[in-house]
Amino acid sequence: MREIIGRLAETHSLTVEEYEALIEGRNDEYAGLLRKLAVRVRREIYGDAVYVRGLIEVSNICRNDCYYCGIRRSNANCERYRLTDDEIYACCDEGYGLGFRTFVLQGGEDSYFDDEILGGIVRGIKSRHPDCAVTLSMGERSYDSYEFLRECGADRYLLRHETADPEHYARLHPPAMSWDNRMKCLEELRSLGYQVGCGFMVGSPYQTVRNLAEDLKLVETFRPDMCGIGPFIPHKDTPFRDFPAGTVELTCYLLSIIRLIHPAVLLPATTALGTVDPVGRERGIMAGANVVMPNLSPVNVRKKYELYDNKICTGEESAQCRECLSERMRKIGYEVVVGRGDFAGNDTPHDRV
Ligand code: 5AD
Ligand code: FES
Repeated sequence: MREIIGRLAETHSLTVEEYEALIEGRNDEYAGLLRKLAVRVRREIYGDAVYVRGLIEVSNICRNDCYYCGIRRSNANCERYRLTDDEIYACCDEGYGLGFRTFVLQGGEDSYFDDEILGGIVRGIKSRHPDCAVTLSMGERSYDSYEFLRECGADRYLLRHETADPEHYARLHPPAMSWDNRMKCLEELRSLGYQVGCGFMVGSPYQTVRNLAEDLKLVETFRPDMCGIGPFIPHKDTPFRDFPAGTVELTCYLLSIIRLIHPAVLLPATTALGTVDPVGRERGIMAGANVVMPNLSPVNVRKKYELYDNKICTGEESAQCRECLSERMRKIGYEVVVGRGDFAGNDTPHDRV
């Protein structure tokens, strides 16, 4: 194991079988070693900076029916909402005042947000805040749509691959969705010059250690600019309500490994991680993550954007979330920084706050 870990840190690559052995054989000692190596390499690239992105949950209306997701189409208990253009701009304006220079528009696959509407919103944000990056996390769309949105000014796109195994993918999604299309979208986004984020849930139903090893291999070969991973958490109104949540331990272990596979990757300590453990996000940062994504959505919709049960930060105002995270990061020796926080190598200067 020690040899494998050393080689991972040196070469940033292992075989799928070795990733599997690394996960299978994990213990506190190896976790500590991986954490130490991950923090060291991240420090060389990013120092003690933690980037922030303001998350705006624009709509919980979704045409899809993912078995794990609380806003799936079949969930009749979900109270649906959609923000107006002006509400989205107001979130950005408030976020700008709080120091955010990246806005992430995330939502279900809501047909209302066609190219004209969504493109108009991207243009609107970019004209109000030309120094900000706009990230979209709006699901699977056509090549032409991604191209148009890119022309409107979108800089980045988050689309988790969810699992690297097509068969596992089919157990998490209804037949109308396919792994092939997911990967096609990711390739297209990259070819259009987006900074691209993929990612997966840890501990999702039917997931095997082999699946996770394949996820790691996918991160190694696809080399995303960003990688969002968080524990699966059951939602009471989904078919997966009775499955157990993923653990903070395994998620942090994988964060360290991903940092070593791809030292410059942008790696968020996710809200889901903060939901399974009150200091989950801190533990994520200490394992090698370097991004946090406080919620900028209007407080009155936050509870409705419930992908999983007991989601944190649904009652706090944006300014409170922002403050809370700065303080939490400061306490563990990190500093939340203002700036676009681009993928390392093409970053813009940032100020400490
Ligand atoms: N638990 C954890 N993460 C979830 N997501 C969706 N539902 C859940 C859940 N129940 C994640 C998916 C999706 C992202 C927006 O949120 O990975 O891509
Ligand atoms: Fe909409 Fe999962 S049901 S993203």
